[in-house]
Amino acid sequence: MKTLSGKVVAITGAGSGIGRALALQAARAGARLALADWKRDAVEETARLAGAPCLVREVDVRDDGAVSAFAADVARELGGADAVVNNAGVSLAATVGRMKREDFQWLFEINFWGVVRGTEAFLPQLREKPDAHLVNLSSIFGIIAVPGQAAYNAAKFAVRGYTEALRQELHGSSVHVTCVHPGGVRTNIARNGRMLETSRGETVQEGELERSFDAVAKLSPEKAAAIIWRAVARDAPRVLVGWDAFWIDKLQRLLPVGYPALVRSIRARSEKRGLRF
Ligand SMILES: NC(=O)c1ccc[n+]([C@@H]2O[C@H](COP(=O)([O-])OP(=O)(O)OC[C@H]3O[C@@H](n4cnc5c(N)ncnc54)[C@H](O)[C@@H]3O)[C@@H](O)[C@H]2O)c1
Repeated sequence: MKTLSGKVVAITGAGSGIGRALALQAARAGARLALADWKRDAVEETARLAGAPCLVREVDVRDDGAVSAFAADVARELGGADAVVNNAGVSLAATVGRMKREDFQWLFEINFWGVVRGTEAFLPQLREKPDAHLVNLSSIFGIIAVPGQAAYNAAKFAVRGYTEALRQELHGSSVHVTCVHPGGVRTNIARNGRMLETSRGETVQEGELERSFDAVAKLSPEKAAAIIWRAVARDAPRVLVGWDAFWIDKLQRLLPVGYPALVRSIRARSEKRGLRF
């Protein structure tokens, strides 16, 4: 999709972070926006910042009916989406065995099934456009796995597998598909998540893991959004967002079973700096 000008762009999780930055940049590029988030105030604030009329809906991506109704409203009121970004996501820090099934399912319903719901609800209208784009948010943790993130890793690996299969199914159609793998981006993802214990299964003080995340997540959401929109403009099948993502992807290719040794050494060095993960 060469330009966003005049295009209808639908984004889930548009009330914060990468979703908000994607929305504001799309608005500046002349897109017409359909914005959804489970936090009404937050998504209304994004629409206000966009400074243009937007279709705004309170949507929990765990709710099939709400996601379908959002897509139906976009079709009826804006003539259908040209681009859809399945961006809504949450974080969970908990180790296997101690992690409650309820927390695991909460994350999976949002980070994986939310992407599936958004894809299924919007695909029929995307197929009707001559040049359409679907963007699914995975993570660099959809390429490597790390301790304490088994649920998040499983969901983001699943998003990657689902998106790569779908891209092949849509080959030759008018719908292009991009899977996004950000490294650390300075957003509210840790503060909005359930940060229950460290990767060693230790209990944490209030706000401790969030502060550790802030210390390592360097890229701004605005830079992340600009990288994602550039990838959409060149119909890139996959995009690594940030230098950390770029190098981690290289490391995984070089040491597909050996990379955890480096993960352990990075964790040990972080702990010397007083950061626990
Ligand atoms: N920040 C990072 O370092 C990073 C790295 C890799 C991938 N990602 C992915 O990027 C995406 C955006 O995350 P972010 O960093 O901007 O986080 P964020 O917390 O700043 O924004 C996420 C948004 O999604 C919304 N949301 C959460 N659950 C929802 C639900 N059930 N229904 C509707 N909306 C919901 C939140 O209200 C929030 O507005 C996520 O999929 C995340 O996993 C982020």
